[in-house]
Amino acid sequence: MPAPESLPIGHSKDPPVRVASNETRCATRTGRHVVRPVTRSTSHIDKPQTIIYSGKVRRFLGLPPNWAGGCVTEKAWGGVFDQTTDRRVEEFTESVSFDRRLYAHDIDGSLAHAQMLAKVGLVSADECRQIEQALEEIRQEIEQGSFAFCTELEDIHMHIERALIDRIGDAGRKLHTARSRNDQVATDLRLWTREAIDRIDRRLVELQRAFVGRCDADAEVILPGYTHTQRAQPVLAPHYWLAYCEKFERDRQRLADCRRRVNVLGLGTAALAGTSLPIDRRFVAERLGFESVAANSLDVSSDRDFVLEFAFVLTLIAEHLSTWAEEWILWSTIEFGFLKLPQAFCTGSSIMPQKVNPDVLELIRGKTARVIGDLQTLLVLVKGLPLAYNRDLQEDKPPLFDAFDTVEASLELAAPIVAQAELNRRAIAERLDRGHLDATTLMEYLIRREIPQRTAHELVGRLVRKALDRGVRLQDLALEDFTAAHAGLDESVYDVLGVEKAVAAMTSEGSTGPEQVRRQVERWKEKLTVT
Ligand code: ARG
Repeated sequence: MPAPESLPIGHSKDPPVRVASNETRCATRTGRHVVRPVTRSTSHIDKPQTIIYSGKVRRFLGLPPNWAGGCVTEKAWGGVFDQTTDRRVEEFTESVSFDRRLYAHDIDGSLAHAQMLAKVGLVSADECRQIEQALEEIRQEIEQGSFAFCTELEDIHMHIERALIDRIGDAGRKLHTARSRNDQVATDLRLWTREAIDRIDRRLVELQRAFVGRCDADAEVILPGYTHTQRAQPVLAPHYWLAYCEKFERDRQRLADCRRRVNVLGLGTAALAGTSLPIDRRFVAERLGFESVAANSLDVSSDRDFVLEFAFVLTLIAEHLSTWAEEWILWSTIEFGFLKLPQAFCTGSSIMPQKVNPDVLELIRGKTARVIGDLQTLLVLVKGLPLAYNRDLQEDKPPLFDAFDTVEASLELAAPIVAQAELNRRAIAERLDRGHLDATTLMEYLIRREIPQRTAHELVGRLVRKALDRGVRLQDLALEDFTAAHAGLDESVYDVLGVEKAVAAMTSEGSTGPEQVRRQVERWKEKLTVT
C-alpha cells in the first residue's frame, strides 16, 4: 500500500474522501476510535498523525452521531457545573483537530514547568520524575499514532494533561499548578513559531543558494531589463538572480527580528494576573531557550503580535515568490522564449498533447492569495479583543499553520526550479537588438561630453526615432547621423552602442556592470559559502 499523506490542517478541517481512502480505523485500549494514518511526521512543528473523527467525517463514514460517546466526558472545570456540555458545543469549541500539532511544544513546556515546580518545592523530586516519565511516554504514543484524541477534551493541552493524570494520578494533577491554558497555549505557540521561523529561514537560504549557484554559468548572459514590462536596459543574468537574493535576504532579516519578539517566555503568568505561588520564571525561560521573560501577565495572555508579525513576513515571502513566479511564467512562454522550465516541475494538459504547463509556478503565485487571506484573518481576529485572553484567540492557529505550510511548500519547490531551469541563450541573444536598450547609455555618453541631460535625452530620442523609421539599431546609424544630431560627436560614440557595450559601460556601485556584478557574486558566495 502506498504511504498516504497526512491530512492537511488549516481551513479544510474534514477532507472526508482522503480520510476514508488513506487511513485506517482502529480501536484503542480505551475503546475510543481513532483514525491512524501510516506515515510519521518528521518534525515537531508538523502535525502528529492521529486525528479525531469530527462530525463531517463521522457522517461520511456512516458512524452514529453520538459516536464520541465512548470518550471521557469528565471536564477539567467540573466543580461549578451541574449540566453536562452539549455535544454541539464540544464540536464547536474543540481545537484539538488542529492544535494537536503543538503536542511536542506542549510537552516540552510542561517538562520545564514541572522541573521548575520541583525546584521551588511545589512538587517533590519523585513527583517530577513521574511527570517527566509519563510525558515522554505520551509523546511516544502521539508520535506512534496510538494516542486517542476526542472532541470532549477540547484541545491538545487537556489531552496531554488527562493522559498524564490517567497514568500517574495525583502527581499529574499537580502539573497545572501556577499555570493556566492561557499562558500555556501562548508558550506552546511561541515554541512552535520559533521552530517554524528557523525552518523558513533555512528554506530561504536554499533558494538563495539556487540563485547564486546559477551565477557563474550564466555570467555572460545579457537579458533585457524591463520597467512597465517594456524593454528598458540590458542587464547581466546574475544581476537578475541576485536581485531576488536581496529580496529574500530582507525577508531573512525580518524573520530574525520577529524571532527576537517570539523568543520570550509567557509561562508563569497564569490566567491573567500572575500567581501567589513562589515560582521561578527565569528557570523555565532558560530551560526552554527563551531570551527573556514577558513583563506583564495581562499582556501575555492577550498578545498575538508575534503570530501576526510572522504571518506578515510569510506574506511578504509569498509576495516575492509570486512576482518571481509571474516573471518566469512569462519567460517560459513561446512569446518570450527565454527559459525552459525543468519538466519534472511542470505538468501536462489532458486535452492538448503538446502542452508543458508551468502549474507549479502558477500555484506558487496563486497560493499567495491564501497567505494574504491568512494574514487578513489574523488581523481581523484580534482587532476588537479587550484584555486579556479571549477564546477568539484559539482561531489564530489554522491561519498561522496554513500560511506556514503554504510558504514552506512553495519555497521547497522554488529552489529546484531555479537551479534546474535553462536559459535559452540563443533566443535571448537574437532578440536583444530589438528595443534600443542602449539608448540610455548613449544619453549618458552625451552627458559626459557636457551636454545637459534634458538636451541629451531629446537628442537621443530623435536618433531612436530615426533608427525606428529605418528599422535599424542605434549602432547601425551612420556617423553623419550622429554628427548631424550634435556637431561635437565623433567615432567614439560607437564605443557605447550595442547591448554588450552598454552593459560594460556601467560602473556605479550596485549596477549591472560586469565588475560590479562580479563583486556582488563574490559577496553572495562568501555569505552563503557556495563554491
Ligand atoms: N484551546 C485554547 C486556545 O487555543 C486554549 C486556551 C483556552 N483557555 C481557556 N480559558 N478556555 O486558545
